[in-house]
Amino acid sequence: MSEVAAVPSHVPTDLVRDFDFRAKAMITPETDPIAYVYERMDKDNFPPVFWTPRNGGHWVVRSFNDARDVMRSDDSSNCPMGLPKDTSRPWKMKPIELDAPEHKKYRALLAPLFTPKAVRLLEDNVRAVTIDVIDAFADTGECEFVSQFSQRMPTRILMSMIGYPSDDAALDGFMPWVDQFFRGSKEERAVGGGAILDYVVKFIDKRLAEPENDLISHLLHEATIESEGDRRMTRQEVIDMGFQLFVASLDTVPATFVTAWRYLATHPEAQEFLINNPDRVNDAAEEMLRITGIVSTTRCVKHDYVLHGAPLKTGDMILVPLSVANRDAKVFPRPDEVVLDREVNQHLTFGAGPHRCLGSHFARTEVRIVLEEWMKRIPRFSVKPGAMLELDASSTITVNNLPLVWDVKK
Ligand code: HEM
Repeated sequence: MSEVAAVPSHVPTDLVRDFDFRAKAMITPETDPIAYVYERMDKDNFPPVFWTPRNGGHWVVRSFNDARDVMRSDDSSNCPMGLPKDTSRPWKMKPIELDAPEHKKYRALLAPLFTPKAVRLLEDNVRAVTIDVIDAFADTGECEFVSQFSQRMPTRILMSMIGYPSDDAALDGFMPWVDQFFRGSKEERAVGGGAILDYVVKFIDKRLAEPENDLISHLLHEATIESEGDRRMTRQEVIDMGFQLFVASLDTVPATFVTAWRYLATHPEAQEFLINNPDRVNDAAEEMLRITGIVSTTRCVKHDYVLHGAPLKTGDMILVPLSVANRDAKVFPRPDEVVLDREVNQHLTFGAGPHRCLGSHFARTEVRIVLEEWMKRIPRFSVKPGAMLELDASSTITVNNLPLVWDVKK
């Protein structure tokens, strides 16, 4: 467990609870990793907004409406991201750590690249890579899902799109930095972040000299900021965006896949549903996104205000666990159940408000295509008997291993 910070004088003692959103544990395959972390917030005894002294000390919001409102509101800011609060990093990820109007400027540069129309043009490549990665092990009757699929497939697609190397050796090289940056202590986060930054800077300098047909070259040599007389971006601006793009999806998409596949592997009835209802694949993908909802994001209070009786003070940090919001019984009937044909599903997995995920159409497309292609090739599968899973919860919740087995036709 993380260290305990002193409770500041403005926090009423009746709003203090001991809760650590970070966790490492060995769990059985049947254990829902999200529930393992967040059911420790006892539903009856925790106020809707409470303060925990863990991870530097911060508030936590628990309901769907509060999570959505905090992310939409101007009362708090996205910088600095992460807990414990770290203000030592001298630069900000663009666009996620900026507020309006700066935020809008950089988001506008990326938005056209991730519209539903733009994503449709990427579908064939997503499908081809998915098939290639699955076919490498489908006939063997087993795989270690994390290293052989959930890290490899989405990373290969996104890295090649942005322009970064996407071969297996490159992925093996930088995945440990991503792990450190998202899951490490404050010191490890700085080391992982530094290594990623070095890599991004070297790559951007290469594309500055020799442009190719990729997103980084586009940002360096073509994109212009309309509100500032159509000026080109500086090298430093592209570095800040390149860093954000590097980390934006390398943790989220793999964590979504592995937590979803853990569920499917331990629920044969869900596999039967997918086999018998291929026309419901969009609903099924959306429900897998709702129930996993792996991100817990943060906000930093910009000016004093009161939320459900909680006196939030300038500089306080707020944890917004999206998986908890997604299981709010006031919004979702049967909230803890996976209902693969759920029809109304306005979940918060991709956030809300000005920073809502730019890659959401892309991520949705990936989940749908992987469900389609996986179920064609490996319709029935389970976790290798006797396996335990290593739960790793921080700003995203994941498991670090998922050994799967299935019968192979002779
Ligand atoms: C299932 C996978 C994904 C999940 C669960 C996810 C989740 C999120 C969430 C919750 C936010 C908002 C954070 C906040 O408000 O503090 C966000 C922002 C963002 N995401 Fe994603 N994301 C996913 C995949 C992707 C992909 C594939 C990309 C890009 C290729 C991407 C790019 C971004 C960017 C650029 C932002 C910042 C937007 C802004 O600040 O305006 N994400 N994501």
